[in-house]
Amino acid sequence: TTQVINCKAAIAWEAGKPFSVEEIEVAPPKEHEIRVKIVATGLCRTDAHAMNPCFKEGLFPVILGHEGAGIVESVGPGVTKFKPGDKVIPLYMPQCGQCKFCLSPKTNLCDKISKVKTPISDQDLMLDGTSSTFSEYTVVGENSLAKIDAAAPLDKVCLIGCGFSTGYGAAINTAKVEPGSSCAVFGLGGVGLSAVMGCKAAGASRIFGIDINKDKFALAKELGATDCLNPLDFQKPIHKVINEMTNGGVDCPIECIGTIDTMKAALDCTTVDWGTCAIVGAAVGGQAFPVSPMQLIMGRKINATFFGGHVECVPKLVLDYMAFNLLQEGKSNQTVLVFKGSA
Ligand SMILES: NC(=O)c1ccc[n+]([C@@H]2O[C@H](COP(=O)([O-])OP(=O)(O)OC[C@H]3O[C@@H](n4cnc5c(N)ncnc54)[C@H](O)[C@@H]3O)[C@@H](O)[C@H]2O)c1
Ligand SMILES: *[C@@H]1O[C@H](CO)[C@@H](O)[C@H](O)[C@H]1NC(C)=O
Ligand SMILES: *[C@@H]1O[C@H](CO)[C@@H](O)[C@H](O)[C@H]1NC(C)=O
Ligand SMILES: [Zn+2]
Ligand SMILES: [Zn+2]
Repeated sequence: TTQVINCKAAIAWEAGKPFSVEEIEVAPPKEHEIRVKIVATGLCRTDAHAMNPCFKEGLFPVILGHEGAGIVESVGPGVTKFKPGDKVIPLYMPQCGQCKFCLSPKTNLCDKISKVKTPISDQDLMLDGTSSTFSEYTVVGENSLAKIDAAAPLDKVCLIGCGFSTGYGAAINTAKVEPGSSCAVFGLGGVGLSAVMGCKAAGASRIFGIDINKDKFALAKELGATDCLNPLDFQKPIHKVINEMTNGGVDCPIECIGTIDTMKAALDCTTVDWGTCAIVGAAVGGQAFPVSPMQLIMGRKINATFFGGHVECVPKLVLDYMAFNLLQEGKSNQTVLVFKGSA
């Protein structure tokens, strides 16, 4: 199995143009590399950012995709942690294990991530630039792969590769939701719904779900949202509506959309004195996010996250997710599956 493999992949030739599915050659794994057969992959909004014509930083052509799960097909020389047949999730956050950041339990950011030019484009997130998940086979470095439970359903746990981990972690690690907290999740896509799950798991007593697409509300409520609001239904700005409903704002707004306006709205409904506004959405185009010093002086905090702030815990999240899924099954049909199709 150390031959070149010919397979299909979705190639992005330039910004703003649709993918084209073409045959590619996937080289055998070199030293400390692993070739993975991708079984399932989600479609994260960040992949669509790279397709936005405003997104100038991308290196094209590129095979995108960073939310996959698969099975090890073959391993290169020197690989000891993986063998063919292992179930794995590729990590877009490298963990070199040696830099000062990897050695610190305070962060999940590896020094190698700061060496990549554009952290929201996928093509360079895995270090050698050869790996992506919108392909039937992909090659990744051994530090960019997590071995997961053999019983894990790959079509579901692929979401742990990005959306689930990011949203769930944003609630737990970034906003630090506590029992009894009030929360407001802006955007109920894959990331936002996972943030709702994180708020619920952390014991929040009130969880606002905000989206301009009301079709998201049923699932958000099933996952724990207590109040779903569509900004288009109100004359006044949504932060004012929330401030009135909560007598001054919520403890933990979590922005999972990625526009400057919704980030501002999230900060504007953060309660004074102790609120933490968590920024998860990635805005395209390098615009600034305006913050008045007075908002901070009054005790509001802003925190942001990359991949939910998790430190080396993809295998554990898979186990948590499997346990959570079992809990959900009693109430609904595979709730967690519904929010993202696999491509
Ligand atoms: N920080 C990280 O590590 C990280 C990781 C993954 C994704 N992201 C970012 O998180 C964001 C969400 O990703 P996703 O995959 O869930 O996206 P998504 O497109 O699936 O979901 C976005 C949701 O926001 C809603 N929405 C859009 N504009 C709105 C508005 N003005 N007001 C209210 N609702 C609005 C949409 O209807 C949709 O339901 C993206 O910006 C993505 O790039 C960041
Ligand atoms: C900010 O969020 C990160 C995770 O995204 C977390 O590790 C860190 O502790 C948070 N900082 C504060 C001050 O809460
Ligand atoms: C749940 O699953 C059952 C059996 O597969 C199906 O009949 C039903 O329509 C599903 N309900 C929803 C809400 O999808
Ligand atoms: Zn993503
Ligand atoms: Zn490192």
